[in-house]
Amino acid sequence: MTRTPLLEARGIGRQYPMGRSILGAAPRLTAVEDVTITLARGETLGIVGESGSGKSTTGRMLLGIEAPDTGEVRFADAPMPRRGSQAWRAMRPRLQMIFQDPLAALDPRLPIRTQIREPLDIHIPHDGAANAARVAEVMEAVGLSPDIGTRYPHELSGGQRQRAVLARALVTRPDLLICDEPVSALDVSIQAQVMNLLWDVQQQMRLAMIFISHDLRVVRQASHRVAVMYLGRIVEEGQTDDVFAAPAHPYTKALVSAAPVPGKPAGGRTVLQGETPDPAQRPTGCVFHPRCPVAQPPCAASAPPLVSVGPGRAAACHLIAAVPLATAASRETEVAS
Ligand SMILES: Nc1ncnc2c1ncn2[C@@H]1O[C@H](COP(=O)(O)OP(=O)(O)OP(=O)(O)O)[C@@H](O)[C@H]1O
Ligand SMILES: [Mg+2]
Repeated sequence: MTRTPLLEARGIGRQYPMGRSILGAAPRLTAVEDVTITLARGETLGIVGESGSGKSTTGRMLLGIEAPDTGEVRFADAPMPRRGSQAWRAMRPRLQMIFQDPLAALDPRLPIRTQIREPLDIHIPHDGAANAARVAEVMEAVGLSPDIGTRYPHELSGGQRQRAVLARALVTRPDLLICDEPVSALDVSIQAQVMNLLWDVQQQMRLAMIFISHDLRVVRQASHRVAVMYLGRIVEEGQTDDVFAAPAHPYTKALVSAAPVPGKPAGGRTVLQGETPDPAQRPTGCVFHPRCPVAQPPCAASAPPLVSVGPGRAAACHLIAAVPLATAASRETEVAS
């Protein structure tokens, strides 16, 4: 893994108009605020958070599909080109994204092989034989047998469709793959297969990957590092094992304690108070404070910055200094006693 980041986002933010206003400008909703992310080649960063926390908006900005209102995205040490520009089109084969719904991502009227091949023909028009060979190679890599190539999307199972979508994303040999809820629409049994496949191709191709999900379990399985989002902000970030073993932020603690761990009894859960977050009703101060079980008066006054709380760890909480980070080892002792 090289240390120079392939992808860097510094303080990116995005607002959207909320409905229409007859008098003057419509009020704006903050979908993402002050998000900073770095990603090295061969690394997977998981982004986890509840619905509406800004995960997909962040993903679109990281890919240049949407420009941030504030901050900057850099890819391969250069500013992300403007969407639709010649530089952006030239960059497209290196940046790919897969979404939750594989059926929506595929054209019902075209056979699978044609669809997998399409990005190659658009972006890398070699001779036909080279492109056909690449399609065969990538289909094999994702576990699709050659005879699937002549079939249409509706003739495939959910798992096969998502493999086809993955093959289509990988066919141009991208450097960066953003997966937005890639297994949420699949049956649990198929989820595990697709997750293993994603892990394998990520390792083999040294892909940099952003793995977005509301599901802690799949993020944990897929990611080297994890960023936890709440109402548009990253509230905690770190190596996946560290974050799950000893979450620092009260929100991450609640998420981790609520997630079922195979083989462990469900006890000691922190149940979050209050409504699920609504970006249209953004609280002042720390965005999490109305639901935070340990909030203090200063939490309503100002937003805590994301600061280092240990090696490779960062958290945004006014109280973090007052809540020393447990190490994985001391937590095990706590559980055992
Ligand atoms: N194009 C848009 N126009 C207006 N509002 C938008 C747009 N895209 C996203 N939003 C709003 O921004 C907020 C963040 O949305 P986003 O889709 O990024 O969240 P998410 O974390 O991906 O949620 P989910 O888990 O439901 O996919 C939401 O309140 C959403 O309604
Ligand atoms: Mg989303």
